[in-house]
Amino acid sequence: ATAQDPYDVVVIGGGPGGYIAAIKAAQLGFKTACVEKRGSLGGTCLNVGCIPSKAMLNNSHIYHQTTHDLKSRGIDVTDVKLNLPNMLKAKDKSVKALTGGVEFLLKKNKVDYIKGAASFASPTSIDVALLDGGKTQIETKNTIIATGSEVTPFPGIEIDEKQIVSSTGALDLQEVPKKMVVIGAGVIGLELGSVWSRLGAEVEVVEFLGAIGGAGMDGEVAKNFQKILTKQGIKFNLNTKVLGAAKKDGKVHLDVEGAKNGKKSTIEADVVLVAIGRRPYTEGLNLDKIGVEVDNRGRIVIDSQFNTSVKGVKCIGDVTFGPMLAHKAEDEGVAAVEYIQTGYGHVNYACIPSVVYTHPEVAWVGKTEEDCKAEGIEYNVGNFPMAANSRAKTNDDATGFVKVLSEKNTDKILGAHIVASAAGDMIHEAAVALEYGASAEDVARTCHAHPTVSEAVKEAFLMASTGKALNA
Ligand code: FAD
Ligand code: NAI
Repeated sequence: ATAQDPYDVVVIGGGPGGYIAAIKAAQLGFKTACVEKRGSLGGTCLNVGCIPSKAMLNNSHIYHQTTHDLKSRGIDVTDVKLNLPNMLKAKDKSVKALTGGVEFLLKKNKVDYIKGAASFASPTSIDVALLDGGKTQIETKNTIIATGSEVTPFPGIEIDEKQIVSSTGALDLQEVPKKMVVIGAGVIGLELGSVWSRLGAEVEVVEFLGAIGGAGMDGEVAKNFQKILTKQGIKFNLNTKVLGAAKKDGKVHLDVEGAKNGKKSTIEADVVLVAIGRRPYTEGLNLDKIGVEVDNRGRIVIDSQFNTSVKGVKCIGDVTFGPMLAHKAEDEGVAAVEYIQTGYGHVNYACIPSVVYTHPEVAWVGKTEEDCKAEGIEYNVGNFPMAANSRAKTNDDATGFVKVLSEKNTDKILGAHIVASAAGDMIHEAAVALEYGASAEDVARTCHAHPTVSEAVKEAFLMASTGKALNA
């Protein structure tokens, strides 16, 4: 044990949930430490998730656009070559800049960054196995567990991160595979499948369910999105079960079976990406010892104020309930710390945007049509095609649409679903409106600059509130 005063707040995990919680705690005047065992801050998101995947998505898009789309724009280029080692270096550079940035932010806010693996000795004392060797024990009044998640393994298919990869290996392939098979048509499968497809791989996706996009995507959007990706060259096998995989002659043979018709077949691939979800990560925390309750899916159980079953121990982010998203983890980090200080905090789970960063992007917030039907809500639909938006048309980048839902009787906004190249940015207008309880008419009557893609959002809300758009 050390002679130092106890910390007010110790955060375990330096991902987007943990490092934001630590900064907020320090800003509110708490003596704060953040323990991280990875050797770099930013968690899954900055090291092997959001950031490297977006670097590869952006640069593979530029490459693909250069080879497929520039000629019609009056730009002739010759000798375009992919330099994959340099593209990977550009990705690593963005990761390094951002993880280094977080370290600077912790320092600036006077958070003690302790490099090591934390484990509970008691609810108020934490053992840390230091990365540099040796051990220390820190005392604390409050702890926030933010240990995140890890790849869900596929039983019987061993990940070697070379031929059979998780998202981590798929972000670091040293060669473009001739053929890539993706297991799981969720967000990771579609984003990273797109990356390698754009760089020249033949990509085939195997999905157990009857629709792509993972949980939460509006049915009509998922169908349209699948059509768009199919046109881009990605092949989908929906309603298909993977039975097993075998390595043979430098290839992976994937045995699959139709979930409905039982038809068996084998798909050959150079690289298989396993992307069937992520699961909470609590290894080494010693939760049993202090009695923190975990549910049957491995999630740490919390109440509405982020309290675990042990007093003084809170929990946020991927390791507990809710969508596994960086911004959700961050907002929970802020709210958990505010609860410690004031007894109040707030995350509106009905208003957390989701974005798939393909081209076009797919973004949504609030309820889907399926949600409205299941809940018996009567609703209006406003729909506006990007092909009728002057800016998208001028940019020759007009694939997609804006679809919004509002309550029939009150015109109150229920949800928004956007397929457009800038959907991930456009969605926040709808998110703010939804958070403030606005009506479709409120957005429709808000002046929008011309020519911008956001006018499509205004038009969709106009249609929801009056039944008619102006430009379509
Ligand atoms: P994490 O980011 O997982 O951080 C937890 C940290 O805790 C880790 O660094 C871990 O080393 C550390 N840790 C664990 N146990 C201990 C211990 N005992 N002691 C010390 N440290 C410990 N989300 C989005 O919102 N947008 C995206 O575009 C997006 N893209 C993604 C792409 C990929 C390929 C992947 C895999 C994920 C993506 N996500 C995205 C999800 C996002 O990364 C997670 O939701 C987010 O990182 C969760 O944050 P967190 O702080 O809860 O946990
Ligand atoms: P996911 O949950 O989004 O999708 C997994 C898909 O695999 C689902 O469609 C599921 O039906 C399918 N599946 C499950 N078992 C299967 C099986 N045995 N055979 C075939 N298909 C099967 O999970 P994913 O894509 O691995 O991503 C993990 C998490 O990371 C997500 O929850 C997401 O929140 C987060 N993430 C977010 C991103 C973003 O916000 N842009 C980007 C990447 C990841």
